[in-house]
Amino acid sequence: MSSGDYPFVVEPVTGAIGAEIHGVEIARELDADTVAALRRALLEFGVIFFRDQSLDVDRHKAFAMRFGRLFLHPNIKGDRSDPAVINIVREPGDTKIIGEDWHSDTPQVAEPPMGSLLYGVDVPPYGGDTMFASQYHAYEALSPGLQAMLENVRALHSDRRTAGPARDYGAANVVQTLSNDQWRETAHFHPVVRTHPETGRKALYVNRQTTIAFEHMSEAESRGLLEYLCLHAHRPEFSCRFRWKTGSLAFWDNRCTQHTAINDTGRFRRVMRRLQLCGDRPV
Ligand code: SIN
Repeated sequence: MSSGDYPFVVEPVTGAIGAEIHGVEIARELDADTVAALRRALLEFGVIFFRDQSLDVDRHKAFAMRFGRLFLHPNIKGDRSDPAVINIVREPGDTKIIGEDWHSDTPQVAEPPMGSLLYGVDVPPYGGDTMFASQYHAYEALSPGLQAMLENVRALHSDRRTAGPARDYGAANVVQTLSNDQWRETAHFHPVVRTHPETGRKALYVNRQTTIAFEHMSEAESRGLLEYLCLHAHRPEFSCRFRWKTGSLAFWDNRCTQHTAINDTGRFRRVMRRLQLCGDRPV
């Protein structure tokens, strides 16, 4: 169904990003060829989706660790018994949720995670979709002039808007973030255009939640262009929308995608479990 030669069925979701994988039971011990082919699909489509999977924490971790080492989030306590496991729980009545604006995961650290594996534990009958956008497509659609201008520019990423006392985003209860007293800002500069370490393709790497300003420029000076890039980054033609069901899993490549959780679950509870994989320093 897709251009690649895969030992399972791959059904692309849109022309830019995302594919559903059929015929792989990820709770099972997968052979090396299947894991290599899944990695290829992740690199080709940016995010891959699985349906009807039965994953307890151990099986979820075992699958994730076929692709790398588990990442420990600096600002989230994680599950009491296991700091790598992040339960994202949205209760009826919660007005804020985690990830409700476009972002890539955890760019405030020096080596942001290479990917995330989000599993639907208890998914509402409707609402609570997640959207993804290809940052390859976002970069490639910029004019040559703007591409050249951004070539050696870096930007500061911080968690000050997503955690800590001055945050604009996210309800503290949903993922057990550190208390305001314990929280210390984490911030790093990264290239505005990064080169993917496996595909060699260039991707835009700024987002609305964490990117504060361009290096050597004030926030006020940066604002106009940053706002333009952050809005451009998720144009409809670069994106896809995933409708969750309990038992679905989304595995995204955090190096070339952004995503956003849609805050429309109203009276329903939504419980997700997320694991992240270690990545390397963006270049
Ligand atoms: C996230 O931003 O990692 C959470 C996405 C979601 O809950 O849909």
